[in-house]
Amino acid sequence: MVPLALFFILLTVPVLDFSGDPHKLTLKPGEDVLLHCQVPRDGDIAVIVWSRPDQESQKYVLLYKENRTHEKYQLPSYRGRVELSDPEMKDGDVSVVLKNVSVNDTGTYECGVIISGRPEPEVINTITLNVTDSDPHKLTLKPGEDVLLHCQVPRDGVIAVIVWSRPDQESQKYVLLYKENRTHEKYQLPSYRGRVELSDPEMKDGDVSVVLKNVSVNDTGTYECGVIISGRPEPEVINTITLNVTDSGHAAGGTDGGDKDVGGILRPFLLPVIIVIFIALFVAFKKSSEKPVAAENEKNILFQDSTPFINPPTGQLTALQQQGIGGKYKMTL
Ligand SMILES: *[C@@H]1O[C@H](CO)[C@@H](O)[C@H](O)[C@H]1NC(C)=O
Ligand SMILES: *[C@@H]1O[C@H](CO)[C@@H](O)[C@H](O)[C@H]1NC(C)=O
Ligand SMILES: *[C@@H]1O[C@H](CO)[C@@H](O)[C@H](O)[C@H]1NC(C)=O
Ligand SMILES: *[C@@H]1O[C@H](CO)[C@@H](O)[C@H](O)[C@H]1NC(C)=O
Ligand SMILES: *[C@@H]1O[C@H](CO)[C@@H](O)[C@H](O)[C@H]1NC(C)=O
Ligand SMILES: *[C@@H]1O[C@H](CO)[C@@H](O)[C@H](O)[C@H]1NC(C)=O
Ligand SMILES: *[C@@H]1O[C@H](CO)[C@@H](O)[C@H](O)[C@H]1NC(C)=O
Ligand SMILES: *[C@@H]1O[C@H](CO)[C@@H](O)[C@H](O)[C@H]1NC(C)=O
Repeated sequence: MVPLALFFILLTVPVLDFSGDPHKLTLKPGEDVLLHCQVPRDGDIAVIVWSRPDQESQKYVLLYKENRTHEKYQLPSYRGRVELSDPEMKDGDVSVVLKNVSVNDTGTYECGVIISGRPEPEVINTITLNVTDSDPHKLTLKPGEDVLLHCQVPRDGVIAVIVWSRPDQESQKYVLLYKENRTHEKYQLPSYRGRVELSDPEMKDGDVSVVLKNVSVNDTGTYECGVIISGRPEPEVINTITLNVTDSGHAAGGTDGGDKDVGGILRPFLLPVIIVIFIALFVAFKKSSEKPVAAENEKNILFQDSTPFINPPTGQLTALQQQGIGGKYKMTL
């Protein structure tokens, strides 16, 4: 009953969505942001300086000294928008909240302190803010253009499988499937054949971005990048991107799929697993010689070398359905 166990594991496993480097934050204008800074708990904080080392100014984002902040030394653009997130600075937390950011807040922020009795100011943390109007997860293109679909896997494992999928389409195939060190056209949606490739075939530093060439209005929709890391059981969704390919100001007739559709990647994975469970149960119950080989092949495709989530080709499914197994599956569900 391995498949059944797997089924329940799949239902309960949370899908991870990686946020990036905590020192690099991307925001939209109007948002508030917490700039984190934690001082080691071994002294009285006499002075806190939040500065912009990338600006040639004698003033600061925030200066705290003699138990209060000093507007006099503050860069005018930050007045009224910055405050300590914990005015009591409990446990050395000297983080600040910066409110209502604008594109002009893009840049480097440095948190420094002077501890009572120590001569040297100490830099605790440096954060880079990027405030931009353009959402990197929403791209608008014209037909014929090429586009880079970005996907960066955290650098802590060997990438066994890469799946670029269209969660908004009811297909068992993919935009790109990379497995066993190569891409597999067999599992690729026909409309993407010959148009998608890894932007860095060596996937250096976990870069599994792809280039999609010569887009058409039919490419409008949601793209999801997922990976399976060697030795980890569950697929992980890394990034979701919405493409809008339009040759005029008019809608291309696609979906405007949700950015946070994190569960999406499980959908193409779950269905074949459920099907396999029913096939396995069916075969077990019948214990007949009626084409069990087909079911075995199915399992082999799905469960070989710890990459259990790859869909069988649609053709095989159709064949199984014609044998009546699909009918059983539909009735039972
Ligand atoms: C700051 O506050 C601390 C304790 O709350 C106090 O001991 C110290 O004298 C104050 N310093 C100034 C310059 O007001
Ligand atoms: C936020 O900042 C913009 C200018 O960057 C200003 O027009 C707007 O009124 C501010 N909103 C709030 C709520 O302070
Ligand atoms: C950003 O800076 C430019 C140039 O200094 C200024 O014209 C503009 O008003 C600023 N925008 C905001 C939202 O503060
Ligand atoms: C900020 O983010 C946008 C969108 O991801 C990117 O195009 C731009 O180059 C970034 N700017 C900086 C200064 O990092
Ligand atoms: C994939 O490549 C790695 C290193 O290049 C190698 O160790 C591994 O055996 C290859 N896997 C397959 C299935 O070819
Ligand atoms: C781009 O795709 C269109 C159809 O969408 C096709 O007619 C055209 O030949 C393609 N161009 C190239 C350079 O492949
Ligand atoms: C887009 O899809 C429609 C319907 O499937 C098809 O008729 C048309 O040729 C496609 N267009 C391109 C540019 O691929
Ligand atoms: C695509 O962009 C066009 C032009 O900006 C817009 O009119 C249309 O509503 C967008 N379509 C989708 C599906 O987001």
